[in-house]
Amino acid sequence: MKRDLITIADLTIDEIGLLVRVADRLKGAVARREEHRWLRGCTMAMIFEKPSLRTRVTFETGMNQLGGSAIYLGPADIMLGERESVPDIGKNLSQWVDVIMARTFSHQSVVDLANSAKVPVINGLSDLYHPCQVLADVFTLVELRGDLDKLKGLHVAFVGDGNNMVHSWMLAAARVGFDFTLVCPQGYEPDEGVVAHARSLGSSTITVTHDLTAGTKGVDVLYTDVWASMGQEDEAAERRTVFAPYQLNGDVLANAAKDAIVMHCLPAHRGEEISADVLDGPQSVVLRQAENRLHLQKALAAWLLGAREAQS
Ligand code: CP
Ligand code: NVA
Repeated sequence: MKRDLITIADLTIDEIGLLVRVADRLKGAVARREEHRWLRGCTMAMIFEKPSLRTRVTFETGMNQLGGSAIYLGPADIMLGERESVPDIGKNLSQWVDVIMARTFSHQSVVDLANSAKVPVINGLSDLYHPCQVLADVFTLVELRGDLDKLKGLHVAFVGDGNNMVHSWMLAAARVGFDFTLVCPQGYEPDEGVVAHARSLGSSTITVTHDLTAGTKGVDVLYTDVWASMGQEDEAAERRTVFAPYQLNGDVLANAAKDAIVMHCLPAHRGEEISADVLDGPQSVVLRQAENRLHLQKALAAWLLGAREAQS
């Protein structure tokens, strides 16, 4: 049966471990300039309803490095669900390509693509989840802490909106076994169903609080993301006011563990959700996170497509 990556809950802890190990091997191969054409002749269709720098470039570069290719389908190209229904698009693409990556507004669109396509579908961000980013972030934390087991007992605090990133982080926390706290303004809590799902998956502590000091005290990882996600541009001005007390800045960093790691999925807005000194400071690993999107997603594509080298 074909596999998709729609949410992190689709993966077992062993599969997350496998993806991290394969990503690590692929990263080494790139550094040594070794050829690793595991997906020779394979094509990925990349559907984008929203803008992207990292997701587009890393998937396209990754497919090229693996000996395959990728086709960019922007909003004006296929008009997902307008010119043609999502299931019809999934069925048609399955006649020509080997894997589909989709960045959509409605999460249901990714689900409908996966249900209609004969080939694997990868969620490249929906309004509900961003699993590729969080898998790459888990890989980054493994690099920094040694191995996946060492992430157990870690405390990750996310300061900001209860958004798609937070939903994926909560599921990762449950699967991997670390504790997760979201510190958000009142009214910007994550989806209750996703919180309940994450809590039901594992024994990690998942906390939602409005108290910035209590929520970030002594934590090992501080994470933030834009205050207005793609599609929420109309709310950006109001959100700037509401979220102003929730900036990830030097005071918040000083309240975390001494060696706390600062993470951001990017794009970042210096002076809004994060201060420039913290984003560009010595504890920030944001460029390593961006780099690791490439390696983790190559591992993911190779694994989903059944490349022999990516199965163990
Ligand atoms: N972090 C991330 O997904 O970046 P893009 O929106 O540029 O793809
Ligand atoms: N929450 C952000 C993530 C961007 C990578 C958004 O959806 O726009």
